[in-house]
Amino acid sequence: MPNSISDTTRDVPMIEARGVHKAFGANPVLRGVSLQVRRGEVVAVIGPSGSGKSTFLRCLNHLETIDSGHIAIEGETLASTDAQGRCSYAPEAELRRICRKSGMVFQHFNLFPHLTVLENLIEAPMVVQGVARGAAVARAEALLAKVGLSAKRDNYPERLSGGQKQRVAIARALCMEPDIMLFDEPTSALDPELTGEVLRTMRELAEERMTMLVVTHEMGFAREVAHTVAFMDQGELVAARPAAEFFADPGHERARAFLQHML
Ligand SMILES: Nc1ncnc2c1ncn2[C@@H]1O[C@H](COP(=O)(O)OP(=O)(O)OP(=O)(O)O)[C@@H](O)[C@H]1O
Ligand SMILES: [Mg+2]
Repeated sequence: MPNSISDTTRDVPMIEARGVHKAFGANPVLRGVSLQVRRGEVVAVIGPSGSGKSTFLRCLNHLETIDSGHIAIEGETLASTDAQGRCSYAPEAELRRICRKSGMVFQHFNLFPHLTVLENLIEAPMVVQGVARGAAVARAEALLAKVGLSAKRDNYPERLSGGQKQRVAIARALCMEPDIMLFDEPTSALDPELTGEVLRTMRELAEERMTMLVVTHEMGFAREVAHTVAFMDQGELVAARPAAEFFADPGHERARAFLQHML
């Protein structure tokens, strides 16, 4: 069983999304999605292909722009919608600062191929945060040790296995010292034998009480590590329940059908 979440409801949610709508052209992809994530909570987002999971995740750090709704990160408003339905975002500088509270890990790693592992890790802290090189290197080396890849420090990504690349991508995101980690199917591009090492790294992060939102098809991970399972279908977040409860009874017909298909 996952650890219980230390917070009380008094605390400000780490992520609060309310009534988020987003369409690509005439295709409504998010249709009023609401979700709260508390400090230290691990939420697994599951659901069929095309249900809007990635789009929702990307809206939380402004990789996509929403049409209407409200998103706040640690109590700071990223986007909000007025009574006339006009959606506005925080001013540019504030937006960047708020988005830096979350780190993102993608299915296809997105490492810089022309940089070594170490250079991949120190780039953003130095360029974006203005961290001095020595301090950035120290931070990067500590995180490489944490994900078990100190030996790969000076390798280029093409020399790494998929699992190693993904652990580097996780370390790179952590180098920015985020309060929240967003994962979009971090193991879907990996051979089954490499999935375990990445899930182990994520489990360790969860044990350190990192706030995590994880889009995944790994039902074992969702069951064992996530506190909460959120099920999306056709642009709606139709159920969000404690993981044990969800797997005992998803509480929604479409979620039940999906689960039967997955397990
Ligand atoms: N940049 C885009 N332009 C146009 N349509 C898009 C774009 N990104 C996603 N879509 C569409 O939005 C819908 C939701 O896509 P999304 O990638 O969020 O689904 P998903 O739940 O992550 O699916 P999967 O499990 O396959 O990753 C799909 O119909 C998709 O085709
Ligand atoms: Mg996706």
